[in-house]
Amino acid sequence: MRIKVVKGYEDMSREAARIIAHQIRSKPSSVLGLATGGTPVGTYRELIRMHKEEGLDFSKVVTFNLDEYYGLAPSHPQSYHYFMFQNLFNHVNIKPENIHIPDGLASDVEVFCRKYEEEIRRHGGIDLQLLGIGRDGHIAFNEPGSSLASRTRLVVLAEETIKDNARFFEREEDVPKFAISMGCGTILEARRILLLAEGIAKADAVAAFIEGPVSAQITASVLQLHPDVTVIVDEKAASKLRRLGYYKRADEMLSSRGQEQRT
Ligand code: GLP
Repeated sequence: MRIKVVKGYEDMSREAARIIAHQIRSKPSSVLGLATGGTPVGTYRELIRMHKEEGLDFSKVVTFNLDEYYGLAPSHPQSYHYFMFQNLFNHVNIKPENIHIPDGLASDVEVFCRKYEEEIRRHGGIDLQLLGIGRDGHIAFNEPGSSLASRTRLVVLAEETIKDNARFFEREEDVPKFAISMGCGTILEARRILLLAEGIAKADAVAAFIEGPVSAQITASVLQLHPDVTVIVDEKAASKLRRLGYYKRADEMLSSRGQEQRT
């Protein structure tokens, strides 16, 4: 795991966008796995700037989003569909047919989830998966207790997640209780993974997934089994890592060799 510690949100966002832009430039038809939540908003803002000012070209890029609330229409302002169009897709030259987001209104969820997985495979798999992390250590909506081999499926949201995400809704009761989410097994198949975490509220989750045991109680810990993970954290989110000094030194030494990643 390559751990990059940065000063704050802006630095994290710029560094993440730089890595994503590098992926798109080296393979214009890249398949990107995308995340929602407050964390990646700055990264998307920076990618939009790169598109407008530096000609970063999304015309061949294919995207798959991690998850969607079950029961929300794509037009619902709190749906992840709406979020993605507002925060990225409306502002870059991605083709609508290349965008994939789980359908929160799917009538046959099992069939939908199977097809979503097939669609990822049909596009040759995900080249770069962007992730945030929940306070309880979840990735996508793989709540504590999710199988580390899980695939795209209907999940029940944890109370902690409902509380955390209530800030986006008028009332806590309005937060959906279910979601469709890629599984840990699905995420693990991406060729490269980029996880972002910012702020003191994420410090316990960051320490647990990097330094704790691989456990279904902290689903992000499954990333310890992946050979190409980059974690970008700010000082606060990194503050509970016991071996922080080593991670910083390793990152600096590899950067000075011009090495993009450590596997
Ligand atoms: C939700 C999303 C996750 C996201 C998490 C953290 O649970 N399903 O993909 O990582 O929220 O969100 P935030 O970045 O707002 O802290």
